[in-house]
Formats: sequence, C-alpha cells, structure tokens
Amino acid sequence: MSKPLRVAMIGYGFMGRAHSNAYKRLNDFFALEHRPVLQVACARNAEKAETFADTWGYSRVETDWRKVVEADDVDLIDICTPNDTHQEIAIAAAKAGKMIVCEKPLARTTAEAEPMVKAVEAAGVPNMVWFNYRRVPAISLAKQLMDEGRIGRVFHFRANFLQDWTISPDVPQGGAALWRLDVQAAGSGVTGDLLAHNIDTAMWLNGAITRVVARTETFVKERKHQLTGKKEPVGIDDACLFIAEFANGSLGLFESTRYARGHKALKTFEINGAEGSLAFNLEEMEYLDYFEYAQDSHVRGWRRIHVTNGEHPYMDRYWVPGLVVGYEHTFLNAIADFVKGLETGKSVQPDFRNALQTQKVCDAVLESARAGQWVATAVEL
Ligand SMILES: NC(=O)c1ccc[n+]([C@@H]2O[C@H](COP(=O)([O-])OP(=O)(O)OC[C@H]3O[C@@H](n4cnc5c(N)ncnc54)[C@H](O)[C@@H]3O)[C@@H](O)[C@H]2O)c1
Repeated sequence: MSKPLRVAMIGYGFMGRAHSNAYKRLNDFFALEHRPVLQVACARNAEKAETFADTWGYSRVETDWRKVVEADDVDLIDICTPNDTHQEIAIAAAKAGKMIVCEKPLARTTAEAEPMVKAVEAAGVPNMVWFNYRRVPAISLAKQLMDEGRIGRVFHFRANFLQDWTISPDVPQGGAALWRLDVQAAGSGVTGDLLAHNIDTAMWLNGAITRVVARTETFVKERKHQLTGKKEPVGIDDACLFIAEFANGSLGLFESTRYARGHKALKTFEINGAEGSLAFNLEEMEYLDYFEYAQDSHVRGWRRIHVTNGEHPYMDRYWVPGLVVGYEHTFLNAIADFVKGLETGKSVQPDFRNALQTQKVCDAVLESARAGQWVATAVEL
C-alpha cells in the first residue's frame, strides 16, 4: 500500500523545477512506500503559479506561503525561494508540524539559521537541506572510498566553483531574476551561493573545518537595482578565496568566482592523501579519478572510474553499466534518501543542524575577509 506524501512547492524557479521533476520520477526508480503528490504550487504571482502548476501537475496554487504552511492537505514544505525567505517559511512550517526540505544555503547567516534548527528540533519534524552534490554518484563514491580509508591520511583538499555570468557591469542587481546579486536577498555572493556547496562536500568527505583565512573581492562596486531603478552599491562578494584548516590536520584551499571567463559551472575538487588521491569535475560528473599508491610502481597512475555500475552509489536504480545519469538525478537521489529516512526512522543528512555547520564556515570566511585575519569556525560535527 502506498502512502501519499503531499508536497507544497514554494517558488517555481530553477529549483522549483528541479525538485518537481524529482518528486514526479521518484517512484519510477526507487521502491518506496511513500508516493509524492504534487499538491500545491506557491508563488506570489497567481498567473505564473498557475502556469507552473499546469506544467508540472500540481493540484492547486496559492499566492501566500503562510496559507500553505497551515494547510491541512500538505505534509511536506519544499522551500525553493531566495535565501532571505528561508527562515520565516521554515520556522512557520515547523510550528505547523510540517516536514521541511529547504534549499541551500540554510539562511543568509548563522544567526538567522540557528532559530531554524531550534524550530525543527523542537517540533520534531523531518528536515533536510538540498546540498544535492552529495548525491552525485561519483561524489558518493568518493565518500565511500574515504570511509574505506583508501587514500590514507589526508593532507590536502582543494576545491573550485567557477562561473562567468556577472562580468558585465551592465548586469543589474535585485528583483526576480537577479536576487543573487542583492546582498539583502542573498546574504552573500559566491560564498553562500557556490562555496556553500564546496564546504558541505568538503566537510562530508574530510571532516570539520576549524579555521579559515579569506580574501573576497567585489569587482563591480555599483549596479542598477531592478526594484529602485537606481545605481546602488553592490554588497555581495563577486569572488572569494580561502585557506582552511581541517580538524584532521589537513589543509584546504577553496576558490569561487563569477568572473572566470569561459566557465559556467566548473565545480571541481581534489583530495590528496598518503595512500592516494581523488579528483572530481562536475563537467564530467560520471567519472571519479583515483590514484592508488599501493599499486606496483610500473602500473601506478591515475585511473578514471566510470561511475555507472550497479555496485556504485544509486546506480542500481537507473540503467545498465556504462550508461550515465545527470544533474537532475542528484535531486531524485536526495529525495529518495529523505523518504527512505521517513520509512526507516533515520534522519537524513544534511539536516538543518548539519547545514548550520556549513553556514558557520561561510560566516567565518566572510568575517575573515573583513578582518584580514584567521577566524575560528566553531563547527560542531
Ligand atoms: N542546490 C542547488 O544546487 C541550488 C541551485 C540553485 C539555487 N539553489 C537555491 O535555491 C533557492 C532558490 O533559487 P532558484 O535558483 O530556484 O531561484 P529562482 O529565482 O529561479 O526562483 C525563486 C522562486 O522563488 C519565488 N519567490 C520569491 N519570493 C517568494 C515569496 N515570498 N513567496 C513565494 N515565492 C517566492 C520566485 O517567484 C521564484 O519562483 C535559493 O536558496 C538558492 O540558493 C540551490
């Protein structure tokens, strides 16, 4: 007997679409008791909400998220709105006893995120933050190899997330499409938007980051604001570079920018250990590169693991060995894990408390850039 899981989607943009696709396909690929029902699509503009609901198959629309979190015909609130709205929606949803899956970053700041953690824990509602890159099969395989101790003592973790879409000073800030450039809506620039992903992956694979020293830059200092029509100071970080110390004694090096001409979403990491190394590149997301020192020296070298076999994470759910899955499957895998958690009674990671640790690192990075010195993160893992 299947159980309905009635979903309310708040926000119909990029993530609203990615998550809707995941709910729709979940039971096609994963054997689960719960069956997502696309119940409510919520957006402030009724006409746009209707179009979204028609496209993806939601039963009804709402223009006020407050009504949605209180609705009796909803089990799960999915927060796919800009960062400045996450806290209010999540706390109200927790108080209403709803399950919550929230997009990253959890909030704009640690101070804003902490009450969200308290609210979901006080209400005892299942919760998850969509750090979906953990669910790239190759990254999940990297986690498995790390847990198996295959690369030994870790010395280095280095990661990039490079884009190039804000180089023109004519790109405005704020409003519906460009809230990411408005510090009020986003909280920060590349640190919360892009590095949060790398930090989440890094701490999942390599443990807590304890201290950071950072340099940020805002290359374009003023941009026209879409809501006021006036040129206003740009408050976000356009680029951020930081050095990190991990609790296990290894060193981290992180870089993110929206000014790397030629790169759209070059997300990479490499981990170097005493017994081997691992490397990942999102542009070739079906591969994990692995160097194993223990091999005989005459055949020792980097090897590419094509992460498509049934024994690889999540891949037994999809096609036959050799055939790839893509970006959208990371959301499918994430919601499958969340629902599996409901059915086994185990909380899925990253939950709000875990995502708070990433938020602390983001805050420490921004604080370090302001102060020009090392800052402790206070991460608790
Ligand atoms: N996991 C990922 O890889 C990933 C990728 C992109 C975005 N995100 C995160 O997802 C969230 C949304 O980003 P996006 O790219 O989908 O943005 P988007 O601009 O494409 O969509 C945002 C949506 O929120 C709606 N919205 C804004 N305020 C609202 C309100 N008060 N009530 C109801 N709806 C409201 C907008 O109308 C729009 O539909 C952000 O927190 C972002 O950081 C995560």
